[in-house]
Amino acid sequence: MTRTLAVVNQKGGVGKTTTAINLAAAFALRGRPTLLIDLDPQSNSSMSYLDVAGIRRSVYDAIVDGTCSMDEIVVESPVENLWVAPSRINLELTIERFPGLRFTETREHLAA
Ligand SMILES: Nc1ncnc2c1ncn2[C@@H]1O[C@H](COP(=O)(O)OP(=O)(O)OP(=O)(O)O)[C@@H](O)[C@H]1O
Ligand SMILES: [Mg+2]
Repeated sequence: MTRTLAVVNQKGGVGKTTTAINLAAAFALRGRPTLLIDLDPQSNSSMSYLDVAGIRRSVYDAIVDGTCSMDEIVVESPVENLWVAPSRINLELTIERFPGLRFTETREHLAA
């Protein structure tokens, strides 16, 4: 059974990234295939596992632009059983492009 966990809080510096990257590693190291989806333009979760300088396509391309699928942006991490859907700074443009975008619509995109 696939489970989805979201680590979300509007307040800054409260441990969202720390929680997400460590939970992802904990699941992966226990043998559960895990996908860490980074939806923060700061890319801190992506940086924890990948050299982000080499990332060309990100969640922005898959979710906002729709120019590729989520499958195409997923990168294998150095941790066994852990993959990352990385973000880049251009995710910041999402609010500008879709000022009325609600979280429920983002969730529907991810589920598609
Ligand atoms: N459980 C914890 N106990 C003590 N310190 C922690 C804990 N979790 C995170 N921290 C520390 O708190 C700081 C902020 O953590 P983190 O970067 O994960 O927060 P964040 O919510 O992702 O921040 P931002 O809003 O900037 O993305 C870091 O210095 C981190 O090491
Ligand atoms: Mg963070």
